Amino acid sequence: MNKISPLQAARKEYKVKLPKSLRNGANIDIEEGNPTHSVANREKIKELFKKTYGLPILKFTDSPSKLVHNTIRVAVVLSGGQAPGGHNVIAGLFDGLKSLNNDNKLYGFLGGPGGFIDNKYVDITEELLDDYRNTGGFDIIGSGRTKLETEEQFDITAKNCKALDINAIVIIGGDDSNTNACLLAEYYAVNNVPIQVIGCPKTIDGDLKNEQIETSFGFDTACKVYAELIGNIQKDANSAKKYWHFVKLMGRSASHITLECALQTHPNITLIGEEVADKKRTLRDIINSMTKVILKRSEKGYDYGVVLVPEGLIEFIPEMHVLIGELNDNIANHKEALEEFSGEQEKVDYLTGKLSAVSAKVYLTLPRDIRRQLIMDRDPHGNVQVSRIETEKLLIELLEDRLLELKSEGAFSGKFSALNHFFGYEGRCAAPSNFDSNYCYSLGYTAAALIGAKKTGYMSSVRNLSDNVDNWYAGGVPITMMMNIERRHGEDKPVIQKALVKLDGGPYLDYLSHKDKWAKKNCYLYPGPIQYFGPKEVCDVSNKTLELEIKMYKDN
Ligand code: FBP
Repeated sequence: MNKISPLQAARKEYKVKLPKSLRNGANIDIEEGNPTHSVANREKIKELFKKTYGLPILKFTDSPSKLVHNTIRVAVVLSGGQAPGGHNVIAGLFDGLKSLNNDNKLYGFLGGPGGFIDNKYVDITEELLDDYRNTGGFDIIGSGRTKLETEEQFDITAKNCKALDINAIVIIGGDDSNTNACLLAEYYAVNNVPIQVIGCPKTIDGDLKNEQIETSFGFDTACKVYAELIGNIQKDANSAKKYWHFVKLMGRSASHITLECALQTHPNITLIGEEVADKKRTLRDIINSMTKVILKRSEKGYDYGVVLVPEGLIEFIPEMHVLIGELNDNIANHKEALEEFSGEQEKVDYLTGKLSAVSAKVYLTLPRDIRRQLIMDRDPHGNVQVSRIETEKLLIELLEDRLLELKSEGAFSGKFSALNHFFGYEGRCAAPSNFDSNYCYSLGYTAAALIGAKKTGYMSSVRNLSDNVDNWYAGGVPITMMMNIERRHGEDKPVIQKALVKLDGGPYLDYLSHKDKWAKKNCYLYPGPIQYFGPKEVCDVSNKTLELEIKMYKDN
């Protein structure tokens, strides 16, 4: 590894904390709950997952297990977008495996699921790991977005594992990757392949969560980084008093990141995709209500402000949702014809001709750049890559037009000068907060304990996260429990249900109770940078979303 900074050197020495139940090693006695059911479509999911459906929820007790452990070999894969804390999951897994038997071995497949299929791996040793403990990034083994989902791929992975004598695989990923981990666990079980599969909940987007998985790792750190930057921008806006700042934030489906950043910083306008969809607000409605806030603030002499925009917003606007759906289908169905065109405009014209009359009209009213961005390559799961669509610029352009109109009618006499920002990649590889460092290490350690207990088809789960680490409890949740059937690219598929922002949930209701005040006044809150060392109330707190969600859950 390259020379490290003083902060990295100090973080290397940070002593991660484990919940009480994991402090004596990963060989722990387990309390098994009742058989479980999937969140929806029970019969269908049961039929598809004959071996792994209905497993009980597992909770580790404080007592050691009587199991004796032979040497095992385990491999780990990082899948999808980076999220702070991935290295600590691997560190926890490594230390947990060593606590079971010091001769246990851990391999890392390189570059995500693609490396698992191509059999590219490294031996993860104490020396290698030592440079990565408590660091951000996924650079220890790399990540990738290759989809692991066909039987042919499953057979290849089984062959690769057999060659290395691997007993278990840990897949660290988001909802799609864990869906595939579940399919893999089932396939191995049905075909008597003696390899256990365990998942770990990763994504900064925060949309892989449910009653058993309180949060996905990385969300806490990434939001803290973005909130710091938003806090700085708010200070700038309030000092210069001349710009409206439009900040787009990552979160390709759910608006959790945007909502959390709003709760941490109190900006003037926050758009929440789920609210837009629920109220069926058109692009015009959104522009009108933003215009009202801009006019109100201008009357008070505030020709400045801060707006937060979730990157997934575009897909929540009803007419855009239909348009993107039609574009997705046409891009998938006319792949060859589209490959014939060399110019962007030709592709736009061709696809416009394939759209319904309503969608074609919507499409043609969009600025040229947005039209182009909407037809860019899809990700391997067939989704439009929302991080590459400049929704914040679209809003600025439409607002500029509207405010010019109002000016000419004499209804607006202020100034509107807007700047745009996009925060996403800036936070995905940040050094994990103390919360994420401890949470991730505990998730990895839990995965080792589940492997030691011979479990498969489970996701590592660490709960009670708003309490002291001492009182967190760990165990496993059957992945089938999180599944339902969804229509994906013309087919019904079993997938983990994505957690969107709940409009009757604690975080959203808290935001709603302040929304009007934050719009009119300057209530900006300055969270400052993540602190790794110092007073507990500054360093060890988690995030508002987690706090408010757990509070609401406990109150009910
Ligand atoms: P995961 O769901 O794989 O964790 O990734 C989330 C994310 O960071 C989104 O917020 C963003 O839209 C996307 O990845 C960007 O993808 P890429 O890394 O391929 O540019």
